Amino acid sequence: RVLILDFGSQYTQLIARRVRESHVYCEIHPFNMDMESIKAFRPKGIILSGGPSSVHEQGAPFSDPAIFELGVPVLGICYGMQLMARQLGGSVERADRREYGPATIDIDVPDELFRDIEREGVRVWMSHGDRILELPAGFSILARSDNSPAAAMGNSERRLYGVQFHPEVVHTPCGKDILDNFLFRTCRCRATWTMKSFVESAVASIREQVGDDQVICALSGGVDSSVVAVLLHNAIGSRLHCIFVNNGLLRKGEAESVQRVFRDHFSINLIYADASDLFLERLKDVTDPERKRKIIGNLFVELFEREAGRLESVKYLAQGTLYPDVIESVSFKGPSATIKTHHNVGGLPERMNLKLIEPLRELFKDEVRMLGRELGLPERIIMRHPFPGPGLAIRTIGAVTPESLEILRDADRIILEEIEASGWYDHVWQAFAVLLPIRSVGVMGDERTYDQVVAVRAVESVDAMTADWARLPYEVLQRISNRIINEVKGVNRVVYDISSKPPGTIEWE
Ligand code: XMP
Repeated sequence: RVLILDFGSQYTQLIARRVRESHVYCEIHPFNMDMESIKAFRPKGIILSGGPSSVHEQGAPFSDPAIFELGVPVLGICYGMQLMARQLGGSVERADRREYGPATIDIDVPDELFRDIEREGVRVWMSHGDRILELPAGFSILARSDNSPAAAMGNSERRLYGVQFHPEVVHTPCGKDILDNFLFRTCRCRATWTMKSFVESAVASIREQVGDDQVICALSGGVDSSVVAVLLHNAIGSRLHCIFVNNGLLRKGEAESVQRVFRDHFSINLIYADASDLFLERLKDVTDPERKRKIIGNLFVELFEREAGRLESVKYLAQGTLYPDVIESVSFKGPSATIKTHHNVGGLPERMNLKLIEPLRELFKDEVRMLGRELGLPERIIMRHPFPGPGLAIRTIGAVTPESLEILRDADRIILEEIEASGWYDHVWQAFAVLLPIRSVGVMGDERTYDQVVAVRAVESVDAMTADWARLPYEVLQRISNRIINEVKGVNRVVYDISSKPPGTIEWE
């Protein structure tokens, strides 16, 4: 396995993704991980990420220089290379101009890092302000660009390498080959990290952890909780109890489909609690978005606890926490303001005195999808768009009523049908309807109408942190609009939301 030390680059997670795509297991840890832990990790190679700092800055992040004495190969990327140069006795200077974006390099020495890669005019992605002035003793220049006389350096005897550019981004087309050379030639890693091997080891460790005890899991029908449920079921069978709370804020057919897949197809113990009326009652006349979220979150916890309380000797709660939530990110920004409270099962384990099982803690989202395929989950669930915990309540602007939910469900179904039929489903992050609390005048046949407005929201995103509105073809928008106005009673106008995030958010509330 490979250790990635994070110096705060926006690309650190990408490095991990690339390494794992090559079927080598790796973990990201903060740059100041102590030597004992590094040794205990027993890395076959270490990668130092880039970062926003300059080695000249006061308080710049430095790792223990002893990492270069471990006899383990090290690859420094960008800041990681500058740090390596500086800590091993070379020197780093501020470049006259920052180099940002595409560049070409020429490779001087086709050392093992650059084996089987073209020699001249190699396209790479640069993003740096500092550059190496003097190499440390024992190092030689492996590649150069116009602005960086040392675009890559190496000491092949000690197996220490540095690259000024970013091999982990797609704008460095040969980047994957360079990383593979480092992993397989320099570190002599083996490509054994596959989903099949993951399932085997996860099942074994869940069995060991749980022993003869019972486990509960909140199933939402989303990708993460579905994968957790099936994985646990593989490990402990009927000692897993999934609780599915129908809050009445789900999409059309959702509650039925979850029961069909998990109870009927996978034979998982599924406790189905229909609390639609209770949720609606508590949400009556509530219009403030944060209050809606709090009410839904609290009631969910209350009901979940009640259902779980009926089971005996439950000791564990299984949760679909993913790797990006676990990484102790090296953030140079302050704490961020609460924009929206995300309510899922926060606080449950402490309140109920349960121990947590988080079998997806090491995985990225795309790996969870691969795992889902390995476990035989239907593609429909694996590729499903995210759906917020508070459901349709935060897509009904203003008060939530049975009528507004009915309209929203029908409009939502039409949008999804058309997005799927046009082949756009897998290209957008989410596509859904928002019901606006205003009426506008229209004409249908010869009649005047005075009905509600549906806003269509479709966005593209990679991580929901930023998003842009999807450039859906006019024909698709036209079909969505025609169908909603014709088929959904109570709606006479459809608009398309063309706000990006930021400053808009994906959901309206
Ligand atoms: P926003 O609206 O903040 O949403 O841009 C970002 C992503 O998060 C989803 N979302 C939620 N997911 N519980 C969830 O599990 C929530 O309370 C919640 N609120 C928003 C939203 O659908 C989008 O994908």
